[in-house]
Amino acid sequence: MPYSTITGIGHYVPKNVVTNQDLTKVMETSDEWIRERTGIEERRYITKGKETTSTLAMEASLKAIADAGIDKEDIDLIIFATLSPDYYFPGAGVLLQRELGITKTEIAALDIRAQCSGFVYGLTTADAYIKSGMAKKILLVGAEVHSVGLDFTTRGRNVSVIFGDGAGAVIVEATEDKSVAIQATSIHSDGTYAEKLSYMYPGAHGGYFIEKYAIEGFDVDYGNPEYGGYFFNQDMIDQNRLYPHMEGQAVFKMAVRKFPEVIMETLAKAGMDVSDLDMLIPHQANLRINQFVAKTMRLNKDQVYNNIMRYGNTTAASIPIALSEARDEGKVKKGDNVVLAAFGAGFTWGAVVLKWGRD
Ligand code: UT7
Repeated sequence: MPYSTITGIGHYVPKNVVTNQDLTKVMETSDEWIRERTGIEERRYITKGKETTSTLAMEASLKAIADAGIDKEDIDLIIFATLSPDYYFPGAGVLLQRELGITKTEIAALDIRAQCSGFVYGLTTADAYIKSGMAKKILLVGAEVHSVGLDFTTRGRNVSVIFGDGAGAVIVEATEDKSVAIQATSIHSDGTYAEKLSYMYPGAHGGYFIEKYAIEGFDVDYGNPEYGGYFFNQDMIDQNRLYPHMEGQAVFKMAVRKFPEVIMETLAKAGMDVSDLDMLIPHQANLRINQFVAKTMRLNKDQVYNNIMRYGNTTAASIPIALSEARDEGKVKKGDNVVLAAFGAGFTWGAVVLKWGRD
């Protein structure tokens, strides 16, 4: 059975820098609050109408394809992780195929909807496709455009100040050489917490889960369910429901528990322990979460890569952007034991242990 290896990587962030100070012009917040609670100093936003999730993904993909030295026509599977796709359907994977100008149809494109864990879920999926022999050259992308879907009034400030736009991509190929390959993966979910971090409207639930689980504060008027209005209606707009919802403290508490757990689980599967770890690249949700995890696991500063200060939380894109930057800065070197770990909406979480195989 072959192993999977990352042969190329690249990232792309839009040029518009939005500082914490900029956000104070539209909502009641402060640079101090945002830095203290999250570590974020600035983030990037797209140019509206000119960039989209799949165009950011295309820019990152072109870099990854060039880095791997492959022909884009050789890609046989596109895996696209995002919670902010261009369209509700079709998925972002086919739009990326079109943006890349890949016209052959001996290719498949699938979207992964595991939010902050999207890249780890995607890499685990890529690994399974490679191991089963069902794919040989996979383009895996994590890309998000949050800036067009946030509530920039004071009401939405607990969510809006955190998120940013960006994309990261890798090429995953088969190899016989285990010393440059993915060593172990773990992915988990717990749907009990589905609404704690969610974007429920528009959607097909029609209030069913809200009643079934007695979820407070989400009711809208669905009109007559027999005649539409169920998925999307005026009341959702009037009630300001078309924004993400996050119970920040609940997410934070679970994240700081699950990160160390899943990292240890995956290291153990790979036959390693914390002392073998050269670099941890955690999802960039909050610098305080990552510092907490580092402290719990007794990792020193050089063993954890963080760039949330500059990009905010780019959800499915955060790990590939961070991995790409860490490689560019020489902080991830050939032969290093690298751990990627994520936790987020769902709740979903997971980790990948790999030996970095590129210069
Ligand atoms: O990637 C997806 C996974 N997401 C995460 O992992 C996020 C995990 N959670 C967090 O990072 C933190 O919970 C947040 C950074 C989102 C929020 O920090 P917090 O310390 O949990 O704040 P809070 O929501 O409990 O709010 C504390 C206070 C409230 O004011 P009162 O009620 O104490 O007067 C908020 O209204 O801070 C207020 N607040 C703000 N103030 C200024 C909330 N957001 C802001 C803001 N600026 N942007």
